[in-house]
Amino acid sequence: MNISLTTDSVLLQKTPAAVLFVFENEIPTSPAGLASLLSPLSAKEFNGGAKQQLLLHTAGKITPARLLLAGLGKRADLTAETLRRATGQAVKHLQSIGVDRAAFAAPGDDVAPLVEAAILAAYKFTQYKPVDEIPTAIQAITISVPRAALAEAKIAARRSQIIAEATNYAREIGNLPGNVVYPAVIADYAKKIAKQHKLKCTVLDKPALTRAGFGGLLAVGGGSDRDPRFIVLEHNGGRPGQRPIAIVGKAITFDSGGISIKPSDKMDEMKFDKCGGVTILGAMQAIAALKLPLNVLGIIASAENMPSSKSYRPGDIITSYKGTDKRAVTIEVLNTDAEGRVVLGDAVTYARQRDAAAIIDFATLTGACVVALGEYAAGIFTNDDALQEKIRAAGNRTHERVWPLPVWQEYKDKIKSDVADIKNTGGRYGGASTGAAFIGTYARNTPWAHIDIAGTAWCTDERPYFRKGATGFGVRLLLDLLHHWR
Ligand code: BES
Ligand code: MN
Ligand code: ZN
Repeated sequence: MNISLTTDSVLLQKTPAAVLFVFENEIPTSPAGLASLLSPLSAKEFNGGAKQQLLLHTAGKITPARLLLAGLGKRADLTAETLRRATGQAVKHLQSIGVDRAAFAAPGDDVAPLVEAAILAAYKFTQYKPVDEIPTAIQAITISVPRAALAEAKIAARRSQIIAEATNYAREIGNLPGNVVYPAVIADYAKKIAKQHKLKCTVLDKPALTRAGFGGLLAVGGGSDRDPRFIVLEHNGGRPGQRPIAIVGKAITFDSGGISIKPSDKMDEMKFDKCGGVTILGAMQAIAALKLPLNVLGIIASAENMPSSKSYRPGDIITSYKGTDKRAVTIEVLNTDAEGRVVLGDAVTYARQRDAAAIIDFATLTGACVVALGEYAAGIFTNDDALQEKIRAAGNRTHERVWPLPVWQEYKDKIKSDVADIKNTGGRYGGASTGAAFIGTYARNTPWAHIDIAGTAWCTDERPYFRKGATGFGVRLLLDLLHHWR
């Protein structure tokens, strides 16, 4: 999407449509004809309330042929999220009537939420559907801002555009099915990002994983003909020698459950089980494009979890990646469907041994987390309260909200095994916390936060600035977090 900023009134611009944001009970006084047009309307028809939108055909009386009034609710209640929602609704509205360009009057100095929501709302997964069935996408928007805000708005808009486009990139990969995206394909995406931005990229294929002893990832990926991959992208924008921040993602390109096979109902949704890893791809793309002054390691553990004669089985005892540790963690497998924690064990060990200052992992880890928090917040689990608070603040600013759940000793006790160090399930109760405790075993004392995105990685309903499908959850949160990192 082409985004330009201007100080000219939207009503003077040559565009098929203009969007005017209206605060509740503050009907605009200009252009002159507008107030008289709106005064006969009841409050229910349009008074600027949040969610309200009114499309006017100006019939040549006002310059743009169409004027879309977008309600923002009460001025005193305005938040970035209200603006995102109103923008998203407006973009979808214009798109549904075939408008491909529009001008927006920013309702204040902060254009970031507007740019972000416009780009997110315009995205649709269209690769496999004939184009004539899909409404036109908005190609270009012009945003008018107060003259004094122009310089800063340009910087903010560019930043928001890069982040929102990286989010859509993650959504597109997330939406692709398991027959198209498998571990080698995830690695190809990483290589492409690396080439584009001159990042270092390391990919371990099956022989390399075997030599290095990635026992968890190899076990989970063993049942599939599509071999697993371990992927590391390195952005070195910080001082040489400055400890990196490690962001880690679970990328199970399809999770059938393996031998502990899942019920077939909604099993198709398990194409989204790669979304944690895909969030890392999107985030690294934006981190590199924005040249963040930090060292960041993007780590992805990718496998397909399938049943076959080569699958790992319930009862198996497997050995996690040891690297330079004195002793490797051993796992008693009780359920092959608890595979995410197994691949993340290897990845988190790798991150810790790279001397990460902090490790943040994203994973569609547990159904239990969805039961606890629903689809509107990710669970956050940590061994470091200060890190958790930073992530919570970033989540609130981006509306990619995270909510804390505990990793107390009792949960750690639940995953102790009689025959190995740990077992990969701790029973039904507290399943999100025992899953987190499992991953925390590998983080040891390195500041670590685990974000369970099982409920937020995709949506099954329309949202004001999302359509059904992958949300790219975590890309915006991570970029905000790293922007504020001290
Ligand atoms: N990928 C699933 C978790 C999941 C389920 C995410 C539903 C999104 C929606 C994960 O690998 C899994 O199967 N977890 C099991 C763990 C259990 C066997 C301990 C679960 O949550 O049931
Ligand atoms: Mn599973
Ligand atoms: Zn899974």
